Amino acid sequence: MEHVEIDRAGEPVIGTGAQTQGGKKVFVKTYGCQMNVYDSQRMTDALVADGYAATDRMEEADVVLLNTCHIREKAAEKVYSELGRIREVKREREKAGAGMTIGIAGCVAQAEGREIIRRAPVVDLVIGPQTYHRLPEALRKVRSGEKVVETDYAVEDKFEHLPQARRADIAKRGVTAFLSVQEGCDKFCTFCVVPYTRGSEVSRPVAQIVGEAERLAGAGVREITLLGQNVNAWHGEGPDGAEWGLGRLLFRLAEIPGVARLRYTTSHPRDMDDALIAAHRDLPALMPYLHLPVQAGSDRILKAMNRRHKAADYLRLLDRIRAARPDIAMSGDFIVGFPGETDADFEATLDLVRAVGYAQAFSFKYSPRPGTPGAEMKGHLPEKVKDERLQRLQALLFEQQHDFTRSRVGMRFDVLIEKPGRQAGQRAGRSPWLQPVIVDETVGEIGEIVPVRITRAEASTLFAEPA
Ligand code: SAH
Ligand code: SF4
Ligand code: F3S
Repeated sequence: MEHVEIDRAGEPVIGTGAQTQGGKKVFVKTYGCQMNVYDSQRMTDALVADGYAATDRMEEADVVLLNTCHIREKAAEKVYSELGRIREVKREREKAGAGMTIGIAGCVAQAEGREIIRRAPVVDLVIGPQTYHRLPEALRKVRSGEKVVETDYAVEDKFEHLPQARRADIAKRGVTAFLSVQEGCDKFCTFCVVPYTRGSEVSRPVAQIVGEAERLAGAGVREITLLGQNVNAWHGEGPDGAEWGLGRLLFRLAEIPGVARLRYTTSHPRDMDDALIAAHRDLPALMPYLHLPVQAGSDRILKAMNRRHKAADYLRLLDRIRAARPDIAMSGDFIVGFPGETDADFEATLDLVRAVGYAQAFSFKYSPRPGTPGAEMKGHLPEKVKDERLQRLQALLFEQQHDFTRSRVGMRFDVLIEKPGRQAGQRAGRSPWLQPVIVDETVGEIGEIVPVRITRAEASTLFAEPA
């Protein structure tokens, strides 16, 4: 099973796993963030429970679903070019006497709604992230000849109504899994569409999360990554009646037999509370890797972005996190060219990056999004300036990433073996810091956690021998 590589730039990531029994077939293509990858699996599971088979070949699909991303203009526009291609595939199928239903899910569906069908009449169904449990029913309506748009915020609990994956399907997906614990965002950063596409913050109840984690572990999953647009804003009532935050939840999940590694993403600096920092100190299963976006290093820009903290607050927070877990590796997101960003503001971002030292980072040119306050602000920058700044920032981040990779050579640590390597006789796993590690297949079976010694690094990949 493939480890899912997330392309933060909104590139297509996967078609869901292939399995073909008779009956109707569904093909799902996923864009955007990990949440969409998770949602695509849940949608596939719901349709499999409804009698469909999943396929990774669009040509043989009776239903094609695009799970879309609206975060930047490029990501959103990609949907329409893809629809052009799908229209051709549909025409070929029709020549052979077969039909094809085309559905748009995800954040473009939520943001644009019926407008999608107006622009692309080939689309039969538009379904937003809050209503995926209604997908089987919506497809039945489409089959009776309706065009369906489902973008209301549902009142019922989506996850309660979404069927869980079968044990065999979970096992096929590999030894790592995503588990969504929190969805939506109330932060309203002025550049961002997520509060509009994903709605306000909702935390899933503890029992539901624990139940899903137990199912995953029971099917052989060893590492679970908790997902949320603001995952560390997660809160809920524990079985003890107390109000739990993410830190407590992580401790509970670590008790589940088989769960060896835990991660979570994406966190907001404002929601890193003491209990979560303590979990990084006291919970060995919690991996020493933290994706904590800061976006910019200038206080003026942070304020204009409505991030509600200063650069120094972020650095102080990192000091506390590193005091708790000295080997933690930092990851982040950055936006260059926000409206009004001066050379000095941009230099402040570079200074912050130098002060932190990132093991991994994602950086983007600001993309004005319809309906967000940022789009209405004065001082939009020319593309050329954004390009230059992005290049400089990425060169610095790349250098840091490279240094971090090389610093692992000679170290000993545990690797979770995840899948066969690209070359015969090899297996591929991950370091605690999410780096791919290649070992000989004699080192251990898939799903095992084995101590290794790193012998060399090539680009961002590590090579290891048994320790
Ligand atoms: N919830 C996460 C981010 C989700 S979006 C958080 O709070 O950090 C992922 C990343 O896309 C953001 O961190 C930001 O760096 C980038 N992004 C969001 N909107 C953008 C825009 N309008 N233009 C460019 N990048 C954007
Ligand atoms: Fe978007 Fe900000 Fe919410 Fe993250 S915290 S999803 S960047 S609005
Ligand atoms: Fe994109 Fe929606 Fe995720 S806009 S980044 S798919 S939350």
